[in-house]
Amino acid sequence: MSAIKNVTVVGGSGRLGAFILEKLLASKQFNVQILKRAGSSTTSTAGTKLVEADFADIESLTTAFKGQDAVVSVVGDAGVLSQKPMVDAAIAAGVKRFLPSNFGSNMTNPNSRALPVFAAKVAVEDYLIEKSKTTDLTYSFVYIGGFTDFTLKHKVIMDFSKYQPAIFYDGDFQFSTTSMPTVGDAVVGVLTHPVETQNRPVYVSEIIVSQNQLLSLAKKIAPSKPWAPVAVDLDALVADAKERFIQGQHDLPTAIPILLKSIVNPEFGGKFTENDNELLSIKGKTEEYLVELITPLLD
Ligand SMILES: NC(=O)c1ccc[n+]([C@@H]2O[C@H](COP(=O)([O-])OP(=O)(O)OC[C@H]3O[C@@H](n4cnc5c(N)ncnc54)[C@H](OP(=O)(O)O)[C@@H]3O)[C@@H](O)[C@H]2O)c1
Repeated sequence: MSAIKNVTVVGGSGRLGAFILEKLLASKQFNVQILKRAGSSTTSTAGTKLVEADFADIESLTTAFKGQDAVVSVVGDAGVLSQKPMVDAAIAAGVKRFLPSNFGSNMTNPNSRALPVFAAKVAVEDYLIEKSKTTDLTYSFVYIGGFTDFTLKHKVIMDFSKYQPAIFYDGDFQFSTTSMPTVGDAVVGVLTHPVETQNRPVYVSEIIVSQNQLLSLAKKIAPSKPWAPVAVDLDALVADAKERFIQGQHDLPTAIPILLKSIVNPEFGGKFTENDNELLSIKGKTEEYLVELITPLLD
């Protein structure tokens, strides 16, 4: 496969998209175009071209993708299924590589794959796999675990409020996490290694840590606080959340316990011991980085 030069980022103004955009531009290896939905308020970013398309119209998307080598989709969860027409348009436009908006749990694991929160992402993956068999479009699925920075700051992986963090299972399971800027590095790594990353999942793991290790770091940072961790039955929370999710309630309080299970439960493949860090030049982070993230959460 020839080098990837022209890259379209879909959802480049989003939470993760902004970091991916920043890293693509900083690498100085790509011509970057941002594709936004018709009517979106996304504005242009220096060094990029901004185009708009009707995400339900394959012709409109095909026009936007003409001349592009790769599409990196970072659409938010509400837009995941809009990627199917994007795949069709990418094929029609002669795009070589499609990275769908995954950037989370290990979806090759059958337990993760069966979670209702991932149904739309699984459908898009399956669609890409099928299309890659009969067309020139290739794919890479980027799995990075939880976002180290975002999930700590937003009390997902561990909530230090009142010094009573919930501990799931026995708290000893070690899982992979990766910060949003590092996910940007990973995307640059994938696009600069198109042959090695073709038609496969790519695993990135900036750090491997357990809840108990996070707790012990927090105790070291703030030893005088009244620490009282609470063992919480995540399976019970997930059973309730799944019922609500299946009935159409897709808000964050419903989705988060289910997503969390795919990270902290040992049966869901969340520890990426074998990963693509070296191929993609991803440097692991040390405990000091976790201390930096945790310290402001312990007032
Ligand atoms: N691993 C983790 O811990 C973690 C945490 C959060 C998110 N994620 C994943 O990261 C990816 C990006 O998430 P995000 O939170 O960065 O997304 P986001 O900020 O919610 O949205 C990103 C962009 O998607 C576009 N968009 C929004 N709604 C859409 C819709 N209905 N149809 C089509 N496009 C839509 C918008 O771009 P325009 O307005 O420019 O069109 C928006 O700026 C997702 O796959 C998400 O699951 C992972």
